[in-house]
Amino acid sequence: MKVIKEIAAMQDVADYFRCVGKKIGFVPTMGFLHKGHVSLIDKAKEENDVVVVSIFVNPTQFLPGEDFEKYPRDFLKDYFSCEKAGVDYIFHPSVEEMYSAKSRTRVVVSEITDSLEGKARPDHFTGVATVVAKLFNIVKPNIAYFGQKDAQQAVVIRQVSEDLNFDLKVSICPTVREENGLALSSRNSYLSDAEREEAAAIYKGLCEGKKLVINNSVSDSNAVIGKIGETIKANSKNINIEYIEITDNCDLKKIYDLSSYKGDVLISLAAKLGDTRLIDNILFTK
Ligand code: PAJ
Repeated sequence: MKVIKEIAAMQDVADYFRCVGKKIGFVPTMGFLHKGHVSLIDKAKEENDVVVVSIFVNPTQFLPGEDFEKYPRDFLKDYFSCEKAGVDYIFHPSVEEMYSAKSRTRVVVSEITDSLEGKARPDHFTGVATVVAKLFNIVKPNIAYFGQKDAQQAVVIRQVSEDLNFDLKVSICPTVREENGLALSSRNSYLSDAEREEAAAIYKGLCEGKKLVINNSVSDSNAVIGKIGETIKANSKNINIEYIEITDNCDLKKIYDLSSYKGDVLISLAAKLGDTRLIDNILFTK
């Protein structure tokens, strides 16, 4: 396994593999890798000849006052996780390498970024879309892998890839969870053991919401949202819900009447447990 820090060197490697007809699988990450990231690497290994993982904590997707500085970082541990998973290249640039002082261009995605995380974290998705577009041009993958854990990010990246005609396939992989249902996340390292147990209430709430929608037992989405909130409150004292939304997974617009709706339903939420902000979602077809 090789670690590459320069953009030009990564592009040379990518050009070589493209030229000899080898398929490049790419897993973009911000590091502090866990089993969720490894599941993406495993999928990339299955489907490609060469696997590249990027590790870059992207400053432009953090808002002022968010956790960019304290975001967990452990490159050595990540290095060994990648080596164990059979990664071929880690792309690990510095902030200066990715954003020169002369950089002026941003990728702005409209409409689908107005709701959910885009509403809660204005400009976050401009940062994500910009860095992912840059990484696509640097790593030149055939297939890029993302997690359903970040549902809106997945929708945004699919849109960017289509709109900017990237010559690659975007593959969205299932959320990996702890046994108690808590979705794995690098930010879970901010939680105490007791909080990790308590945070399981979030997935319980999402599963309850899915059950109510699938069974057609409640057609008013606000009533379902209320029930999800009640389930979470019944299983946790300290979780503060920021939002719960029931949307169509294509345009991320709110579904009001669930009884007449047919398509992919996304229930997403953000909540705070102590100082830690957690997001999760459940996606299913109705
Ligand atoms: P990061 O949070 O490190 O996540 C990297 C990838 O792993 C994302 O596609 C994310 O959805 C996926 N992932 C995270 N937790 C997961 C879980 N429990 N199960 C399955 N997949 C999971 O998302 C980012 O980094 C950044 O925004 C990035 C796309 C790298 C751009 O900076």
